[in-house]
Amino acid sequence: MEPFKNKVVYQIYPKSFLDTNGDGIGDLQGVIRKLDYLEELGVDYIWLTPFFPSPQRDNGYDVANYRGVDPSYGTMKDFEELVAEAGKRNIRVMLDMVFNHTSTQHTWFQRALAGEEAYQDYYIFRTPRPDGGPPTNWCSKFGGSAWEYVPQLGRYYLHLFDKTQADLNWENPAVRRELAEIVRFWMSKGVKGFRFDVVNLISKGEYLDDPQGDGRQFYTDGPRVHEFLKELNRQSFGRDKEIITVGEMSSTSMEHCFSYAGEGQEELSMVFSFHHLKVDFAGNNKWVLIPPDFERLKNILFSWQEGMASHGAWNAVFWCNHDQPRVVSRFGDEGVYWKQSAKMLATVIHGLRGTPYIYQGEELGMTNAHFTRLDQYRDVESINHFALLRDRGMSEEGASSILRAHSRDNSRTPMQWDEGENGGFTQGKPWLSVNPNTAVINAASQTKDPDSVFFHYQALIRLRKQWDVFALGDFTPIDPAHPAVLAYKRAWQGEEMLCVNNFFRRPCLWNCPRSLEGFQVLLSNYPDSHPTQEWKLRPYESVLLHRG
Ligand code: GLC
Ligand code: CA
Repeated sequence: MEPFKNKVVYQIYPKSFLDTNGDGIGDLQGVIRKLDYLEELGVDYIWLTPFFPSPQRDNGYDVANYRGVDPSYGTMKDFEELVAEAGKRNIRVMLDMVFNHTSTQHTWFQRALAGEEAYQDYYIFRTPRPDGGPPTNWCSKFGGSAWEYVPQLGRYYLHLFDKTQADLNWENPAVRRELAEIVRFWMSKGVKGFRFDVVNLISKGEYLDDPQGDGRQFYTDGPRVHEFLKELNRQSFGRDKEIITVGEMSSTSMEHCFSYAGEGQEELSMVFSFHHLKVDFAGNNKWVLIPPDFERLKNILFSWQEGMASHGAWNAVFWCNHDQPRVVSRFGDEGVYWKQSAKMLATVIHGLRGTPYIYQGEELGMTNAHFTRLDQYRDVESINHFALLRDRGMSEEGASSILRAHSRDNSRTPMQWDEGENGGFTQGKPWLSVNPNTAVINAASQTKDPDSVFFHYQALIRLRKQWDVFALGDFTPIDPAHPAVLAYKRAWQGEEMLCVNNFFRRPCLWNCPRSLEGFQVLLSNYPDSHPTQEWKLRPYESVLLHRG
């Protein structure tokens, strides 16, 4: 079995995990302190979002130095201690490599600005149009033009994200060599996993105006992206077969993912794709609210399951990360069925074919932030888009309600360790407000309650280790057109697993089209689930059945 198939990854956003020195910002010592908690949960890897030196315009996704630790998170010694302490608990460390762009504070960019041509060629500088305007009409994903003018150079540089995040020029072999060396540097520190940020945007193709809108057709899954990944693989992580890698693929296509994460392709172990998390967007637009479309959600999940499997390619499976709202608020219920729906959503993901990722706090059923004031937000994307919505004439209340549902800060509020004022996250003033529901949703109470969401996640992780069908089984949808039930089968060498879920608050009657003979309940979110052919599923009821 490949090293990643029966593993579970836990994502840590260090800034919001645990603060040990009272400055209101989580730190690496905070992660070390909670390793016992993570061991109890049972995860195999921790993925740490960027802790490298950074001006923090985009919370560390604007890297100023790829080989250090930002002083707000600690020191390199802390990092080494973290790798060693995690290792003692059989937990490996995965780092987040932001290689599509650097901070404009990075010395490479600073030297480019100072006039060094060799470093100008590390980035994408272009001359203005005859009228002085930006070279193309491409848009930044954080709002506004994707080009920023540098008066002293008389040229624009490309930034697909914030203007302080300048895109690197992967066409330049010197850039590719530098990046491979950075990966090797972290390998030498015992790092055993890498997540590559928006890595399907690294090959830009042609610089032309986009008649369809924002420019993404020119740089998404670009012409040389597979070649670049194969080279990076050969030059760095591919040299250690224990290492697992995951690429974050923005607006990708499944065909490209067959190659990014296909067996024998020598690119990456697996991919994150996001189509299933756009079912409450109007098209690609996150800043228009529509209710989640369950049928689309199911179609997308199932077609990726079947498509990737038929090409021997591997998915990362997930609902949550630091860019997504909290799933229980999004597709579940924050009210009476909070616990049932959080467990149901967990079961859906952990039963799929792929490697499950848990985002900090998801294992407690943490909810959206419900900020009441604009000044509570910190996220650059949220703040920029709020201003754009207001410029387009939307009312303050309208724009606020969109942020309340879709802002990335929903997932970034501090971990809720206990019922205390700041949820046990800090003795100081947290950099982002703690959700007041820490009084009821917190780790301290859940690790004492066998019926908690926490122990449901623990059980799901344990089942993956116990039964090979979770890691290796085929995937087949069951009754895919049903309007309320999400059900599927996994099968592996005579072993079978059924995962059956009522995705809604309304009870529903379901005629199970498969014989249930010989199946036993492995896990459920009700104490007394009795599957029958004619099955009355209770609100958010979720059952894993096993035979063989
Ligand atoms: C990825 C990260 C996100 C960041 C962006 C730019 O999407 O997950 O947090 O803002 O890349 O680096
Ligand atoms: Ca701190």
